[in-house]
Amino acid sequence: MEEKIIGLLKKHQGYLSGEELSQLLKVSRQALWKHIQSLKELGFDIAAVPHLGYRLVSVPDRLYDFQVYQGLKTKIFGKKILYFDSLSSTMDMATQLAFKKAPEGTVILAETQTKGRGRMGRIWHSPKYKGLYFSLILRPKISLGKAPVITLLAGVSICEAIKDFTAQEAQIKWPNDILLRNKKLGGILTEIKAEVDEVNFIIIGVGLNINNDKKSLIYGATSLRQEKDEELNRLTLFQNILYRFEVNYLLFQKKGFSTVIEKWRQLSSTLGKRVKAYSHKEHIEGEAVNIDSDGGLLIRCDSGLTQKVTAGDVMHCR
Ligand code: BTN
Repeated sequence: MEEKIIGLLKKHQGYLSGEELSQLLKVSRQALWKHIQSLKELGFDIAAVPHLGYRLVSVPDRLYDFQVYQGLKTKIFGKKILYFDSLSSTMDMATQLAFKKAPEGTVILAETQTKGRGRMGRIWHSPKYKGLYFSLILRPKISLGKAPVITLLAGVSICEAIKDFTAQEAQIKWPNDILLRNKKLGGILTEIKAEVDEVNFIIIGVGLNINNDKKSLIYGATSLRQEKDEELNRLTLFQNILYRFEVNYLLFQKKGFSTVIEKWRQLSSTLGKRVKAYSHKEHIEGEAVNIDSDGGLLIRCDSGLTQKVTAGDVMHCR
């Protein structure tokens, strides 16, 4: 109902009478009034003038599910969103729901996380109402070995959405850091549940710094606001990410991994660089020359030997 009310008020720029609104929504005037009150409590500024009706003055900077649904161009991703003002970690909630058979495309989103986590046991700082913190449940029919490609796909989609929305050219540092001007703008955390070699479900967790000011960013990190010098609409960017992600996901299901990998290569900040990696308890140093069809990074060492790294982090050497 909230979604419908906001939709109608947005479409109608002036005042919409209570009578007309309640007829359009097929609810009583009293029920309408109650919904308007709850919208006000959520931060929507709605002017109510006797004999004129209601007018939407402003919408809050929140990612309420019903706001996201409005204008969302996807068929699967984000069709069901669970919104939380605060959560320990969207990953935990997504995993619980995935075990309870939540459908593919379900999104868990929080305005802040008290135990947001990053890769390799790191903490993910999640300042309230500043960034984007969500987890998406996927159920691809792929083998476990191919699962890292889904992470690459997420990275590509985020970069494309950022480009659409801000014209900024974000890049991907292997395997899944989102960089802007060589500083970390966001990250992707992938958690997989598989049986034997078949993927059961994958949770893709995305953390993105959007309106963070300098104070709330850790060393080496940046936000879109820092780089663009303006506050950005988190909602539109989020809708765009879901859309791009779904388009790429469907493309990969139809045409295989090659299209994803090619896009990833174009957006990579790692390929062509001298890198250091730590894999199977040994250091590998050399030039990052390619990624293979499983998403592994190929490093050509000084000895001329090419080694593959499948997990962990790489350091870009200067
Ligand atoms: C990384 O770069 O290390 C990955 C960071 C992933 C953070 C996101 S925020 C939403 C989701 N919930 C979490 O606890 N982590 C991921």
